[in-house]
Parts: sequence; structure tokens; C-alpha cells
Amino acid sequence: MAFPRTKCLSPLLLLPFFALLHANLSSAADTISANSSLSGNQNITSSGGNFVLGFFKPGNSSNRYYVGIWYGKVSLLTSVWVANREIPITDPATAELKISADGNLVLLNQSKAIIWSTNVTASSNSTVAVISDSGNLQLRDESNVSRVYWQSFDFPTDTWLPGGKIGLNKLTNENQRLTNWKNSDNPAPGIFSLEIDPKGTSQYFVIWNMTKSYWSSGTWNGQIFSGVPEMTANYIYDFEYVSNASENYFTYSVKDKNVISRFVMDVSGQIKQYTWLDNMQQWILFWSQPRQQCQVYSYCGSFGSCNEISQPYCNCVQGFSAKSQSDWDLGDQSAGCTRNTPLQCGRSSNSSNSEKDKFLTMSSMKPPVNPNTLAGVGSSEACELACLNNCSCTAYSYSSGGCSVWYEDLLDLQDQYNGSNASTLRLRLAASELQSSDSSKGKVTWIIVASVAAAIACVAIIWLVIWRRRSRRMIQETKAVGGALVPFRYSDLQHATKNFSDKLGSGGFGSVFKGSLPDSTVFAVKKLEGVRQGEKQFRSEVSTIGTIQHVNLVRLLGFCSEGTRKLLVYEFMPKGSLDTQLFHSPSTALDWKTRYQIAIGTARGLAYLHEQCRDCIIHCDIKPENILLDDSFVPKVADFGLAKLMGRDFSRVLTTMRGTRGYLAPEWITGVAITAKADVYSYGMTLMEIVSGRRNLEQTEEGGTGFFPTLVASKLIEGDVESLLDQRLGGEANMEELERACKVACWCIQDDESSRPTMGHVVQVLEGFLEVNMPPIPRSLRVISETSENINFFYNFSSNPSSQTRSATSSSSNTKSSTSNSSGA
Ligand SMILES: *[C@@H]1O[C@H](CO)[C@@H](O)[C@H](O)[C@H]1NC(C)=O
Ligand SMILES: *[C@@H]1O[C@H](CO)[C@@H](O)[C@H](O)[C@H]1NC(C)=O
Ligand SMILES: *[C@@H]1O[C@H](CO)[C@@H](O)[C@H](O)[C@H]1NC(C)=O
Ligand SMILES: *[C@@H]1O[C@H](CO)[C@@H](O)[C@H](O)[C@H]1NC(C)=O
Ligand SMILES: *[C@@H]1O[C@H](CO)[C@@H](O)[C@H](O)[C@H]1NC(C)=O
Ligand SMILES: *[C@@H]1O[C@H](CO)[C@@H](O)[C@H](O)[C@H]1NC(C)=O
Ligand SMILES: *[C@@H]1O[C@H](CO)[C@@H](O)[C@H](O)[C@H]1NC(C)=O
Ligand SMILES: *[C@@H]1O[C@H](CO)[C@@H](O)[C@H](O)[C@H]1NC(C)=O
Ligand SMILES: *[C@@H]1O[C@H](CO)[C@@H](O)[C@H](O)[C@H]1NC(C)=O
Ligand SMILES: *[C@@H]1O[C@H](CO)[C@@H](O)[C@H](O)[C@H]1NC(C)=O
Ligand SMILES: *[C@@H]1O[C@H](CO)[C@@H](O)[C@H](O)[C@H]1NC(C)=O
Ligand SMILES: *[C@@H]1O[C@H](CO)[C@@H](O)[C@H](O)[C@H]1NC(C)=O
Repeated sequence: MAFPRTKCLSPLLLLPFFALLHANLSSAADTISANSSLSGNQNITSSGGNFVLGFFKPGNSSNRYYVGIWYGKVSLLTSVWVANREIPITDPATAELKISADGNLVLLNQSKAIIWSTNVTASSNSTVAVISDSGNLQLRDESNVSRVYWQSFDFPTDTWLPGGKIGLNKLTNENQRLTNWKNSDNPAPGIFSLEIDPKGTSQYFVIWNMTKSYWSSGTWNGQIFSGVPEMTANYIYDFEYVSNASENYFTYSVKDKNVISRFVMDVSGQIKQYTWLDNMQQWILFWSQPRQQCQVYSYCGSFGSCNEISQPYCNCVQGFSAKSQSDWDLGDQSAGCTRNTPLQCGRSSNSSNSEKDKFLTMSSMKPPVNPNTLAGVGSSEACELACLNNCSCTAYSYSSGGCSVWYEDLLDLQDQYNGSNASTLRLRLAASELQSSDSSKGKVTWIIVASVAAAIACVAIIWLVIWRRRSRRMIQETKAVGGALVPFRYSDLQHATKNFSDKLGSGGFGSVFKGSLPDSTVFAVKKLEGVRQGEKQFRSEVSTIGTIQHVNLVRLLGFCSEGTRKLLVYEFMPKGSLDTQLFHSPSTALDWKTRYQIAIGTARGLAYLHEQCRDCIIHCDIKPENILLDDSFVPKVADFGLAKLMGRDFSRVLTTMRGTRGYLAPEWITGVAITAKADVYSYGMTLMEIVSGRRNLEQTEEGGTGFFPTLVASKLIEGDVESLLDQRLGGEANMEELERACKVACWCIQDDESSRPTMGHVVQVLEGFLEVNMPPIPRSLRVISETSENINFFYNFSSNPSSQTRSATSSSSNTKSSTSNSSGA
């Protein structure tokens, strides 16, 4: 209870928490000494208020308390270190964190038993524990600050803070690794960890169960990790690698001290980097690896199968159920699944259902790990027999490559898998598990089939009659209201989309389905997820979006709002999204002319949103997935206005998006206010992908450490833009347009938002009515070349008089955003 200077502290303790943080407290508030200890809701706070040490209760855990360190200036309780990870305390009021007689910091439970200790030999008779503003808890000599016996930075849990180390002590062979929490409520060590290569190379690995590495950073070259080329665009961190006779370690610092940033080994088995966005009161995820959830080794445990494109990611395969449903519900699938019905094999065959085991066919599977190839098995039947004959065989697969069988647990399964090694797996199950799909029952089956078919036909006829009536009404509704938005009934949309069966895609705001009417009107229905707005506000927001019409914006036709069911009905775009055209259809690469038109059209749509609507609309999520193409490849920007519609939830959308956010402007990460220039940045990144036909982040083959935007910046200076063009085009492009596109894209991705052009300017440049200077290499991309900074975007207008007229008209309609603020010269 007793702080050293209780008298001085007590009036301050009455103040609200935030006042306490900023108050200039005596140094004792960050210290536990021989005389003071912590229990209950007592805590110590670092001198600048950045970190707090005390008892906390994670997530929804009912009465399990832990001693931990969390952020003092972040409103969501976010722990960065936990002392007693595995042994919780039930009642913090009677527990005690104190300096013991031998100088260690110890945690005593209710019955005064030591359940955690720093466990060092301190040669001083007066040690103190001090929490620093970097989040490090040190046990040190009271009179000599540099005599440190123990520090929490040497024993990280799941979080790597700036200044902390991930490393290997070569003398003691101790590995300082991050280990994930078992689940969101339980800080006990999970099965995934991040550690530096124990063999001594300068890279780190993400590891499953201390044995199997499933991601590696690649080696450190002094500036970046070879497997993480996007680090060249990492404007917030400085990494450092130290290697000498006694240790190897990585550490990092944050360039801007005001940025609150953390690096965690997440419950999901992915490493993630977040920054705190104070104006949104949210952690923003801006980098994670492995990019896809299913790339995490054995994420769903044994006999669990991962599916990248549906939620939840993990399901037990047929015939199995979760070993521990409560763990699964909390996001920990590592225990996997168990068989519902034991196999017949191995049991004596006198039980009544002694039918032989059967095999379930599972297509498009990623093959489980550790296959055993049986040589000389020449047919599928022989392969099946070989598996049947060994009771520990749980699956087989037969293909031109031969016969593979698996023994015991199947690990790292993935379904709906489209990789080149996708195969058809036959899973061994007890015969009773497969009874329903058994069709060898002769006549009885046929009678059942016939009567079911008759029943279905009856229902279908009735349904058809109703459907016709409904759709006639829907056609009337759609047409009657003309330009205004149509309010749809949920049941009508359900019918028109065949109960949401034809999924076109899914984005941050929800999934999109194709719907059609009998008169062959086709449309797209977006089912919004997580709308928190009230009915009235939702309708007014939607009707605002409905009034925004432009040839380069996807038109909203109608909506449905019934309780929590919120849907938006849009015009249908037959050519799908730009990413499919650019990245997923290698046979038919878009020609240069089409690409250039797509670039201009998208820029026009955005310029309209930014400059010509009544309220400036910031899209917030420009990327190829959100640019849709109509029949003649006219681009239309989708999802505009939704950031606002979803309100605060938008930040949730950002953080739950999968993979690396290559399109996010730095201000999203550093936490300054977001303006339309954030869209300009994302547009620039997208434009580079339109030029190259590949993802910016994937372009590592030729360019060495080639983060594509870096390559663009340097090739522009070298005057070699042709090498940036999509190789599928074989050099077929208008070189002047290509150069213009690359220049303007490079201007768009400048770190400083005031150096970026407006979308209106981008349109004019692409149309050729405005000339641009050579762009400087964005600061964040500048690794080697240190060219002098030149941030003048414009130097002259084109001499073509007609173009001057045009640019004059178009800028005069941009009443709100003036031209001068970004030109600067
Ligand atoms: C502990 O408290 C006693 C008096 O209560 C004081 O004399 C002593 O200096 C304190 N020791 C420490 C280490 O604060
Ligand atoms: C720290 O402790 C004080 C009282 O001891 C309490 O009012 C305050 O809420 C605590 N702070 C945190 C972050 O728990
Ligand atoms: C805690 O429980 C609430 C409601 O049951 C749920 O919405 C929330 O996601 C849970 N939080 C965690 C961290 O599990
Ligand atoms: C305190 O810890 C000891 C040793 O771990 C244990 O035996 C005892 O049951 C614990 N007491 C309580 C109340 O949890
Ligand atoms: C302290 O360390 C010793 C060996 O190094 C170990 O046996 C003991 O369990 C540890 N005690 C605690 C409380 O962690
Ligand atoms: C600590 O030990 C030193 C000498 O070993 C002694 O002078 C000093 O009084 C001791 N301090 C306390 C608080 O016991
Ligand atoms: C403080 O501790 C350091 C490290 O143990 C030691 O080198 C130094 O001499 C000590 N200073 C004093 C004044 O005792
Ligand atoms: C992890 O490894 C340990 C021992 O190496 C083993 O007992 C345990 O079953 C493994 N965990 C899983 C989920 O496979
Ligand atoms: C290794 O480097 C660390 C950090 O720079 C330093 O503290 C340590 O003394 C060095 N060890 C050796 C043997 O050079
Ligand atoms: C393969 O699947 C992944 C997700 O599982 C998806 O992103 C990708 O587009 C698919 N590729 C093809 C060619 O269908
Ligand atoms: C099979 O029969 C033997 C004796 O005939 C009996 O002991 C055993 O329990 C039976 N097993 C099963 C699974 O019914
Ligand atoms: C089944 O296969 C396993 C693994 O190869 C082998 O150890 C075992 O002996 C086999 N059992 C039989 C009955 O062949």
C-alpha cells in the first residue's frame, strides 16, 4: 500500500487517470522498492506516462489476473509484457508484487506462495524495480543505476517493443523469442514463435511448436531483410543487427518518437506490426507475415482444414470435431480435431457394424505434410488397398505422381486450395460416417429418389409462380422510381440472388453477390457487415451516396434496410475488378491504350469525389480490387462513401483486411489527419501496378531488392521507363504516355502529402494538358541514391492553347481545393 511519499501523492490520486499521467510525479511512482509493493489495482507508471505496470485481466477471462505492462496513453488495454504467463491469480487484492529479502522481484499469491520471480542473484542488499518510458522493467541497485540484474526486455513475451531485443545469447545459448498468447484471453505461451536463426545467420524465423519454420525474413543486408523488400518503404522504423562473440540480436527504433508502435507474434501465428491511431482510438495493422492465414503451418491443428476464402478459417474435416470447442471458440485451434467414430480397422470384427472403413473424397486440397510415397503401386485401387491394410494409415492420394499415403495425424490441411500441388485426397473414415452418401442400396434408394424428386418438382412449380409475381413487382419497382434509389425488400433480394449463392467477391465492408431478374437485368448486391448506424442516419447517408453519379463511379441503384440487414444494390460490372484483369488473367493482358484509359478514368472518378461533390468524399481504400470495369473496360470506382457510412467501424475494416497494405499512405500509419491526399497516394501505387501488370510488392525477381515503386523512381531518373512496362505488352506502348504515368505516379506517392498533386491535376497531366517535373525519389524509398530534394510539381503549362482553356475550366470548377497549395512554386 505504502508509496515512499504517500503524503505528497494522495491528493494527486484523486485526479482522473489522465491527469495523473501528465502530472509531474516524484520518481517513486515508477518504482517498487523494499518498502513498497503492489496489490489490487495499484500500479506504477513510467516517468513520462508511456507504460504502466500492475495487475490486469485480459480479454473476457472472468477472474484470471496477471501482472503485466501495458500502454499508459492508449485507451484500449494493450499489454506488452506479462510476468506470470502460465499461473494466473484469482484475487489481486490479496496477491502481492514485491522485492523479496534476497533482492528479487517476486509475485506472491493469496497464500503467500511465490508463483513468479525474477530469479537472479543480486549482490546488492537494496534492489528496486523501475519501469522506464520505453516499457522496460529493470531490477537494479537502488544506488547505482547502471547495475542492472534483470530486465523485462531480456524476457519478451508476445510483443517486441522499440528498443527491445530479439536475439540469441551465444554464451548461455538462450534464445530471446516472442511467443504468441494461447488465445485472446490467455497469455500462456502458444505454439507459434519468432526467433533469430539459432544457426547464427542474420535472419529470423516464425516457427511452429519450436520445430517447424514456416516463414523467414531472409538475411539482413545492412538495410533491409532480403525477404521483406517493402522495408525500403518503411518510414517509421530503423532496424539494427548486432553480432559479436557473445550475442546476435535485432533491435529497432521508431524514427518519430510520437508514434506508438508495436510488433507482436499474434494469436493467429502471424507477426504483425501496428501503430496506434489516436484520432480513431484504434490499432492500425500495417504489415503482417505470412500474408495469408492458411500459410501459417498447421494453423487448424491435426485434421483441421484451413480455408482462405471463408470465415471461420478453420473447420474440422468431415467425420471429425474439435478436440476442445472452447479453445476453438477463442481462436486457438492448435489442439486440432478428433475422430467422431473410431475406425473399424484394428477392432475385432464381431461388432454389429463391422463394415470396412471407407474413404471420403476431398478435392482441391493442399496435400498434408509428411506423405509416404509407396513405390510400385500402379493404380488407385492398389493405393487404396495399401492404405486399408495398415490401421495407422489415415489418407491416401493417387495421381500420375504415384501413390502417397499418410499415417496418423494429418497436419496443415487446406481446402479450396488452388496452388500447383493441389490434389484430391481420400480420407479414411468409419463406414457409418459415410452412410448418407452411399448409393449402393438398390431399389429402396431409387424409390426415395423418385419421391423426393416429385416433391421438389411440386415445390419448384409453386415457387416459380411466386417468383414470377415477385419479380414482376420488382421490375416495376426498379423502373417506376427512375433515377431515385429503390428500397428493396430483403426477401426480394434473397430471391434475385438465389439466396446469395453467386458470390462475386468480398471486401472490407462485406460480400458482394450477383442478382438477376427474369428480364435479364443484372445487378450486384453488397451485404454490409457491421453497420452501427441508426435507421435514419443510414438512409440519409445512403441517399447521399445515391446522388453521386459520374461515369467513372459505380452507380448505386437501391438499398435494403431491415433491422440489422443492410444491403446496397449496385449496377453490375461485367468485366469484374481491375485486379483480376491485371494479375489473374495471364492470357489476355490489357493493351496499353486500355490501361491508360483506365488510369485516366479512375483519376476522373476520384477527382469528382474529391472536388466536385457537395462534401468532399475521401475514398480511403483505393486499390485495384475497388476499380471495376464495364463491358468496354470503362473503369468505375466502387465502395465510395462507405468509409463514412461505416463510421468508426472503418478502422476495424482496415485492421481486419488481410495481408500487407501496400496502398496505405504513411499518414494512416503515423496518425495525422487523413485528407484526400491519402487517396492520391493509393492511386499512385495503383497506377504503378497498372503500368507493370504486377503487384508492387511481388516484383522482386529482377530488381534485386526491387520494391517496384523504388524501381520506378530510379528508372525515371535514368530515363529508362520502357523497362517498367508490363513485359506481356512486348514494348507496345506510347512511350510519352508511359513516362507521364510513371512520373505522376511517383509524385502521388511522396511522403509529404503537400507534395502530392490533387486528383484534378493528375487528370490534367495524364490528358497531356499539364507538364510535370521529374519527381524526387520519395524519402521513404530512398535507400542508396541521395539526390537533392526538389519538390516542385509543376513547371509550366502545355503550349497548346486549347488545352489551357480546358485546364482552366476544370480547375475553376474545383472551387474548394485550390491549385496553389500543392504546387508550391
Ligand atoms: C523504508 O522505510 C523506512 C521508514 O519507514 C525508511 O527509513 C527507509 O529509508 C525506507 N527504505 C527505502 C529503501 O525506501
Ligand atoms: C493506477 O492506480 C491508481 C490507484 O492506485 C488507479 O486510480 C489507476 O486507475 C491505475 N491506473 C491504471 C492504468 O490502472
Ligand atoms: C468478449 O465478449 C464479448 C461479448 O461476449 C465479445 O463481443 C468480445 O469479442 C469478447 N472479446 C474478446 C477479446 O474475446
Ligand atoms: C498459491 O500457490 C501455491 C504454489 O503454487 C499453491 O499451492 C496454492 O494453492 C496457491 N494458492 C492459491 C490461493 O491459489
Ligand atoms: C529459479 O531458477 C531455478 C534454476 O535456475 C529454477 O529451478 C527455479 O524453478 C526458478 N524459480 C522460479 C520461481 O522461477
Ligand atoms: C547494505 O549493506 C551495506 C554494507 O554491506 C550496509 O552498509 C548497509 O547499511 C546495508 N543497507 C541496508 C538497507 O541494509
Ligand atoms: C555501478 O555499477 C557498475 C556496473 O556494475 C560499476 O561498473 C560501477 O563501478 C558502479 N558504480 C559505483 C559508483 O559503484
Ligand atoms: C508440440 O511438440 C511437443 C513435443 O515436441 C508434442 O508433445 C506436442 O504434441 C506438439 N504439439 C502439437 C500441437 O503437435
Ligand atoms: C556485443 O555487443 C553488445 C552490444 O553492443 C555489447 O554490450 C557486448 O559487450 C558485446 N560483446 C562482446 C564480446 O563484444
Ligand atoms: C487462389 O486462391 C487465392 C486465395 O486462396 C486467391 O487470392 C487467388 O486469386 C486464387 N488464384 C486463382 C488463380 O484463382
Ligand atoms: C468381441 O467378442 C469377444 C468375445 O467373443 C468379446 O470379448 C469382445 O468384447 C467383443 N468385442 C466387441 C467390440 O463387441
Ligand atoms: C503401418 O505403417 C507404419 C508406418 O510406416 C508402420 O510403422 C507399421 O508397421 C505399419 N503397420 C502394419 C500393420 O503394416
